Amino acid sequence: MRRAVLPAAALAGALALTGCGSGPGPDSGSGTSKAELSVNSVYMPQPVSADMAAGFLTITNQGGAKDALTSVSSDVAGRVTMHSTVAGAMREKTSFSIPAHGRLVFRSGANHLMFEELKRTPKQGQHVTLKLTFAESGPLTVEMPVKSATYNPSTGH
Ligand code: CU
Repeated sequence: MRRAVLPAAALAGALALTGCGSGPGPDSGSGTSKAELSVNSVYMPQPVSADMAAGFLTITNQGGAKDALTSVSSDVAGRVTMHSTVAGAMREKTSFSIPAHGRLVFRSGANHLMFEELKRTPKQGQHVTLKLTFAESGPLTVEMPVKSATYNPSTGH
């Protein structure tokens, strides 16, 4: 389900019209009315199972409009699903919102990606390729490094 960008654009236009009124300024077109996404803290713990793996990443939105992650695919898996963890129980979701000036975090014990129908077993030191698809922004391709099965991003090993 797509959400139109029109309301945000219309709001920005209204603000420009009723704003300080000093006319066109050099700061018009600063891009803050769109989502500006970047991806970091990306890793996959080396899977202990031959047919399933987990993956984690953080998507940061520096723009002034929200977006949503709507699907994930990978060269290494038949399909990648997105899960939230609520009170210890995981639940598949079809979309995760990314707030304006906010972050969407997938980390161990919380939101996570699940790589299903693995075509090969990723090993520590390898990379897998991820394609992230969004409701508004263009797709992003990310190289996800495979870390040890017990990798902890806060200690780095
Ligand atoms: Cu899961």
